[in-house]
Amino acid sequence: MSETIIRIEHLCKTFGTGDGKVEALKDIDLDIQKGEIFGIIGLSGAGKSTLVRCINLLERPTSGKVTVNGQELTALKEKDLRKARRGMSMIFQGFNLLMQRTALENICFPLELSGLKGEKGWREKRAGELLEMVGLPDKADAYPVQLSGGQKQRIAIARALAEYPQPQVLLCDEATSALDPTTTQSILDLLKKINRELGVTVVVITHEMRVVEQICDRVAVLEGGVIQEQGDVSDIFSNPRTEAGRRLVMPNGEKIHVLPENRLVRLAFNGATSGEPIIATLAAQQGICLNIISADTRTIGDKSFGTMVLGLPQDETEAARALIYLREIPGVTAEEVTDLVQ
Ligand SMILES: Nc1ncnc2c1ncn2[C@@H]1O[C@H](COP(=O)(O)OP(=O)(O)OP(=O)(O)O)[C@@H](O)[C@H]1O
Ligand SMILES: [Mg+2]
Repeated sequence: MSETIIRIEHLCKTFGTGDGKVEALKDIDLDIQKGEIFGIIGLSGAGKSTLVRCINLLERPTSGKVTVNGQELTALKEKDLRKARRGMSMIFQGFNLLMQRTALENICFPLELSGLKGEKGWREKRAGELLEMVGLPDKADAYPVQLSGGQKQRIAIARALAEYPQPQVLLCDEATSALDPTTTQSILDLLKKINRELGVTVVVITHEMRVVEQICDRVAVLEGGVIQEQGDVSDIFSNPRTEAGRRLVMPNGEKIHVLPENRLVRLAFNGATSGEPIIATLAAQQGICLNIISADTRTIGDKSFGTMVLGLPQDETEAARALIYLREIPGVTAEEVTDLVQ
């Protein structure tokens, strides 16, 4: 049974007043389940950072409710809020490490602050274990300037988890946006490991679909301060229902020029086994040639998601046979389309 850990109801956030007023978030409703990796994706200015800052109430919502672990944060006084916030940690694009402190001292920092001080030896032992977990046991004495971007983010992740008891939620605001693709992958793998092994609920804020497809279970598409659509990553990927969703899933657009007499078919891959050469098989087994008009598919694990638009043969019988074949492929839906023709 899934259990809601973060519930956001009718959340609005407006900055400024009068002419300078910016409605950064409009009537946001969101439920994030315990133990999932939830993505919030949107372009620059969509309101992502504002939303994540409203989750831990670094930013006071203008109206609406935020409930975390059954506790309504929006109803708490500052002192109780500080305590409740400890259950949530955050990491950022810029890492935000203390430059004058070593990696180990950075990780110890939240423990020193929390009042739950304990002995120095105990703090350092815990920090050492976290260093081990993020894969940098030999960097205890390194200063941030001596670390690469990926290593800095690993230290920031260890610091985010250092609080005792361990935070249940990790909020990541563009945590991989400053990193190259390989380093991004390794940080995403680490977040996945933290989610699986420690049961931490992870909220990933990003402008990159790639990040969402790699690790998220569910995703909400944010644009103009409004959640345009939300659901399972595989659903939104294979069949975005809104313009905003399509813009993110198919950033290159699907608007194409085709000859008006061509019939088109759109294939939605919703978990088909990847690596099946559909077009080649049709040609080899049935002698039918299809044109690939556009393709935007990707592989998650060994499954394919996304869409492909094919031009059907002029010959009616061949076109019909091709459709029958395409419709029988497991994990693929095929429908004729007319809305792509300009
Ligand atoms: N403190 C603030 N005062 C006034 N306006 C703000 C403030 N913070 C954010 N905004 C505005 O709210 C809107 C959403 O900003 P936000 O930073 O949440 O977007 P974002 O999706 O995180 O963008 P990015 O991907 O560039 O980080 C923007 O129009 C921004 O200018
Ligand atoms: Mg932001």
